Amino acid sequence: MSNVVLVGSQWGDEGKGKIVDLLTARCDMVVRYQGGNNAGHTLVVDNKQYIFHLIPSGILYDNKKCLISNGVALDPIILIEEIEKLAGQGIKLTPKRFGLSDKAHVIMPYHKALDLARESQSGDFRIGTTGRGIGPCYEDKSARVGIRVIDLLDADRLTDKLYIVLKEKNILLNYLYGSDIIEIDPIVETYLSYGKKLAPFITDTSAEIASAMSSGKKILFEGAQGTHLDIDHGTYPFVTSSNPTSGGACTGAGIGPTKIDHVVGIVKSYTTRVGAGPFITELTDETGQHFQKKGSEFGATTGRIRRCGWLDMVLVNDAVRLNGFSSLAITKLDILSGIKTIKICTAYKCGAEILKIRPACLNKLAECEPVYEEFPGWNESLSSIRSKDKLPANAVNYLNAISRISGVPISILSVGPDRNETILLSDPFI
Ligand code: IMP
Repeated sequence: MSNVVLVGSQWGDEGKGKIVDLLTARCDMVVRYQGGNNAGHTLVVDNKQYIFHLIPSGILYDNKKCLISNGVALDPIILIEEIEKLAGQGIKLTPKRFGLSDKAHVIMPYHKALDLARESQSGDFRIGTTGRGIGPCYEDKSARVGIRVIDLLDADRLTDKLYIVLKEKNILLNYLYGSDIIEIDPIVETYLSYGKKLAPFITDTSAEIASAMSSGKKILFEGAQGTHLDIDHGTYPFVTSSNPTSGGACTGAGIGPTKIDHVVGIVKSYTTRVGAGPFITELTDETGQHFQKKGSEFGATTGRIRRCGWLDMVLVNDAVRLNGFSSLAITKLDILSGIKTIKICTAYKCGAEILKIRPACLNKLAECEPVYEEFPGWNESLSSIRSKDKLPANAVNYLNAISRISGVPISILSVGPDRNETILLSDPFI
């Protein structure tokens, strides 16, 4: 199989960066298809930590091509910072190694200003966004007034577009939110300079992908946030503004659905969430703190502490349906060591009703209570284990339960943050 899509099955932060890194070793090209620098992947390689927000973490391999495709909301400031930081760590990006879609939409200063202003004035209705301007950027894309990467290469076009857009944005910023207005000239100058820096990398990524496909290359498509942050299928409105689900790989990278051979769903062994919104299996007790501390559950992007709870298979099963997972990658299994009894939520109880599918209505969801299956835990540390048959019997039992409840086989197990702390049961590329 040549084309694999990787999607988080929960609310993001499933440990995707590490799985991307692992699968990158088995492919030729990695494509990031949605989201922006609201995401963050932390990777540990040879005890060295790398944090990526935009560039696919596959960039750590020198013989793979990494692409940021059209579906991404791109903040050029962050991208340039990442390119420079990598250069400082001895990794020099060239167009042979990295490409950026000419059609990706650009996060502009007014997007960030609007994101922050809205959040600060929304009281109980705030989403808890990352404040990176993601929502306002995608809004402009849909409203057909967005600035695309290609516009950063053309002074006249950028000026004309900004002239129209800023008229409206400044009214919103100044009259509605009491923020400073944004002048056109400094932005044109600054964003053209970004365009100049990024120009060597700007390309038609869909065409590059097609050409890689026709020469038989193996390609990994990497979503950013998880399924339940999807704008269509997530816990709306507490979602991001794009489609992390596998269909988003088609629109976000410019490929047809018939080209996808395998979809890997990443399932963290427990659940976490950042920002506001319902979380049925949330734990505010010692076990929640165990996940938070042992699992280092704070955001790579915002540093916010992640809310933690038991594994919720209602969420995972929704993700199985929405993405068509072919296999699962189970992450952070090692974090469960030391818990006496482990719970998995298999359904929601809402009054007299037992629900197997998450309801769309958040008020109804707020009334739901988790129905749990319990499993005996284990005390052994898992991080040095490299084959499934060496795992404690109770850990295997837990994994088998995930497969049984989801109906999807497990291909990858992660038992620690390092690249080596992984058990590959089957290769999604084969
Ligand atoms: P936005 O994407 O910044 O607009 O934020 C919308 C919601 O998605 C907020 O609840 C964020 O906390 C959440 N979110 C965005 N990106 C990530 C991510 O990479 N991991 C987890 N949550 C995220």
